[in-house]
Amino acid sequence: MTRIAVFNQKGGVGKTSTVLNLAAAIHRQGLNSLIIDMDPQGHLSEVHPNAPGAASQSLFGFYQENKPLASLAIEWEGMGKLICSHKELIKVDSIFGRGPAILNLLKHGLEAWDKTANTSNTLIDCCPYLGVLSLSAIFATDFVIIPIASDYLSLQGAQKVEHTLKALEPVLKRRVERRYLLTCYDRRHSMTFEVHEQALANFGNDVLKTVISENVAVAESPQHKQNVFQYSASSTGARDYQALLDELVENGLLSLQTNPEPSLASVTG
Ligand SMILES: Nc1ncnc2c1ncn2[C@@H]1O[C@H](COP(=O)(O)OP(=O)(O)O)[C@@H](O)[C@H]1O
Ligand SMILES: [Mg+2]
Repeated sequence: MTRIAVFNQKGGVGKTSTVLNLAAAIHRQGLNSLIIDMDPQGHLSEVHPNAPGAASQSLFGFYQENKPLASLAIEWEGMGKLICSHKELIKVDSIFGRGPAILNLLKHGLEAWDKTANTSNTLIDCCPYLGVLSLSAIFATDFVIIPIASDYLSLQGAQKVEHTLKALEPVLKRRVERRYLLTCYDRRHSMTFEVHEQALANFGNDVLKTVISENVAVAESPQHKQNVFQYSASSTGARDYQALLDELVENGLLSLQTNPEPSLASVTG
């Protein structure tokens, strides 16, 4: 089961759109993902038609009340399972310190989840700053997708992520796999190509070949509480997010294998 964090230290670069539509593309292959909204702004949770409003029923319940992730996940039609965000999540950075226990808590929670749930992948929508929440998402995941809206500030945000991931290598004792994804790609603007070239120069083979075009269906679908495939299956946005999934699968970064039914032994411990 692959765990993916979608992170950039800049907001408005397409993190939430990428989690929403990549999970939807995976669902169209007959698989369910666990989707975690880790941004206290809760934009992803707002796309769910009836997300619970209480903090204790959100990811905050996992941190504050030690609730298992399985007790917080709700069904999301056309998507998989969602663990909602809540604005209280912002407190996680200040309440629990920054030690290894809190930074590894999500990882341990997901290990417990994997033993009992039959989702195929986990996708985490991170907040646009580096703190306990984003670090614990990175600690818990196999690789990070870093969206770059095709402008210079997003590129700068991505460079900060690159520095962070390099600095984490001795701590995690592994290279954090990452892929950079150009989003809001508007071929009418020369800046788009300049940013793309710069991204290739900085991040080389870690830049995905797929780009996500600037597309009205991607922008409009959340307000209708839909992903881009539900809103307009024939849109450029739907095609691009399908291509993203195909590229990740072709490169062995994501598997479309179903999680085998949990064994009795793993459930009973
Ligand atoms: N490919 C795209 N085409 C058009 N608009 C997009 C695209 N990707 C994202 N957007 C819009 O840009 C804004 C920021 O995207 P979002 O996914 O919320 O970014 P983040 O989660 O990084 O803040 C949203 O209004 C979203 O609808
Ligand atoms: Mg977001």
